[in-house]
Amino acid sequence: MKRYTAGARLYDVLSGERLVYRAGRVAGIAALRLGRGDIVLDLGCGTGLNLPLLLDRVGADGHVIGVDRSPSMLAVARDRVRSNGWSNVSLLEADVLSLDPAQITSITLREGGRPKVDAAFSTYAMSVFDDWMPAWTLIRDVVRPGGRAGIVDMALPTGAAAVFAPLARLACAAGGADLAARPWRALEREAADAEHTVHRGGHIHVVTGTLP
Ligand SMILES: C[S@@+](CC[C@H](N)C(=O)[O-])C[C@H]1O[C@@H](n2cnc3c(N)ncnc32)[C@H](O)[C@@H]1O
Repeated sequence: MKRYTAGARLYDVLSGERLVYRAGRVAGIAALRLGRGDIVLDLGCGTGLNLPLLLDRVGADGHVIGVDRSPSMLAVARDRVRSNGWSNVSLLEADVLSLDPAQITSITLREGGRPKVDAAFSTYAMSVFDDWMPAWTLIRDVVRPGGRAGIVDMALPTGAAAVFAPLARLACAAGGADLAARPWRALEREAADAEHTVHRGGHIHVVTGTLP
């Protein structure tokens, strides 16, 4: 928690976004195949780097719900929402691991008149959660049947890119990510149509699929 308090204002610059991590969020959001008017949940939304890309897909009639437990990261996300004049974003300060799905339902009912979200997405966050399984259970609880899920997360680079493994270890240690977590496994198990692509030498994994 502390690292995301002290580093929140510098996160977008120091996290390697441009060089490395933007590629994963762009690929993940494209593969999520969102529609206009969709409601999307972003778990561990951080400073809101996914927001412009998600809003671009769901349009003015859609809605994005970002959840993060760090007030400092959310403060940056709120600035982003304010400065862009977005009125279709809800930001919720909460621990994903103990979040009551009813809190998400109350937002979806208010913003879209329906009880479930159309898609859930998480980038570089589930490997940071102390345990990603409760986050997966939350996704299963709040996404409508036939809705979409996308998990973008990290592992050690492989093949020729394995030379960058020490750098990846360093970056993930700084962010508190567990490179062995592989949180996309649950989605691969449960979505019959799961698609899995790897980027940046195997460091970034993008898994998307339709939930039963
Ligand atoms: C590496 S950052 C990723 C942020 C953002 N998803 C992105 O792609 O830039 C991990 C985020 O997960 C959040 N986080 C970690 N544990 C959490 C939890 N249990 N509940 C909610 N958010 C959590 C942190 O506060 C941080 O903002």
